[in-house]
Amino acid sequence: MVNVNQNYLKLGAGYLFPEIGKRVKAFQQANPDVKVYRLGVGNTTEALTPTIIAGLHSGVDKLADVKTYSGYGDEQGNTDLKEALQKKYAKLGVSLSLDEIFVSDGAKCDSGNIQELFSDKSVIAVQDPAYPVYVDTNVMGGRTGAFDVKTKMYDGIVYMPCNAKNGFFPKIPNQKVDLIYICSPNNPTGAVATRKQLEEFVLFARVNNSVIIFDSAYAAYIKDKNLPKSIYEIEGADDCAIEISSFSKDFGFTGVRLGWSVVPKKVMGYSEDSAPVSLNSLWNRRYTTKFNGASNVVQAGGLAGLTKEGRKESRQLVNYYMKNGQLIREGLSDLGFNKIYGGENAPYLWVKTPNKMKSWDFFDKMLKEAHVVVTPGVGFGPSGEGFVRFSPYGHREDIKAAMKSIKTNLKL
Ligand code: MLT
Repeated sequence: MVNVNQNYLKLGAGYLFPEIGKRVKAFQQANPDVKVYRLGVGNTTEALTPTIIAGLHSGVDKLADVKTYSGYGDEQGNTDLKEALQKKYAKLGVSLSLDEIFVSDGAKCDSGNIQELFSDKSVIAVQDPAYPVYVDTNVMGGRTGAFDVKTKMYDGIVYMPCNAKNGFFPKIPNQKVDLIYICSPNNPTGAVATRKQLEEFVLFARVNNSVIIFDSAYAAYIKDKNLPKSIYEIEGADDCAIEISSFSKDFGFTGVRLGWSVVPKKVMGYSEDSAPVSLNSLWNRRYTTKFNGASNVVQAGGLAGLTKEGRKESRQLVNYYMKNGQLIREGLSDLGFNKIYGGENAPYLWVKTPNKMKSWDFFDKMLKEAHVVVTPGVGFGPSGEGFVRFSPYGHREDIKAAMKSIKTNLKL
């Protein structure tokens, strides 16, 4: 008899997105002739841009010739790609050394794996609502108690409520915590942290010896020049913050898979006898042990994406999805939805349900009546109850058709 990791048994329902998928599938089986519009998962739909395609082709061509073929590369990523990422940060006034950058197969894996570096006694704080990976992986790692079905909270986690009152950005915790997850632009609320808000968290982290895990996967959606795109734009963040980011949402790499993390050498954790330990060296140790590097073909595509032409095409892609978001916002406003948040410097729209409906009830109603899939807000945490998230990732004609269907079929 093999005992399983008991922490897995604490996990509430299935992972949010497959759970939604299950319900949609059941609906489709019962209604095979109905076209369902998917504004649920943030899954990109538009073709990769020409520069990326050329980059990917060049990666493949190299493999076809013995003179340019490469097998295993550096686990932490190819130097040319890390140099391009280093330049990207330099444009924000952030100076990083190459061994502080780790290329990966995507931000989801990094944001799930990073918790391994920390003791199971670490207290974690999350924005509530939050991308479910932060909470679920810490449950798996044994940093929480049981899930309370009533409060929809795990014992031991510090939930930082994000609501309309605080502009969907939390106050600093009123207790000492070890790990603080911040996502900005935020998934799911679409709120973006201001410089001042991040300064407060950085100060808190430095005073309390906490570490901030900053998820900037949606940074390319920030249009307002006053809003920070990286935590390292904040003074002092380089000794208390780890940043995780992605090629998924601005280059359309959701299926291609490429991301990166930054672990500055100054960020320290501690041994049980309080000796400082470099998190950079632990992350490197983990990387070299558990990962053989992102695909060389994919890294060639990513490198092409970071060229001048590649970045220009990426901006067009981002604008396309932002325009979709605008159409969703306009459509919902016309229908009388008056609490629509996000979508300005972020892709997602965070929408208060009508008539105080619960998130999953409204999800079911949207699916059944309008055949539109949204994401129930409560799936991201208890403060998401009474909200749903609309994703703008979709073909323009599908977004328009979805809005038309909501207009025609949703009984409000
Ligand atoms: C989402 O819909 O929240 C995202 O697509 C999930 C992800 O990026 O893994």
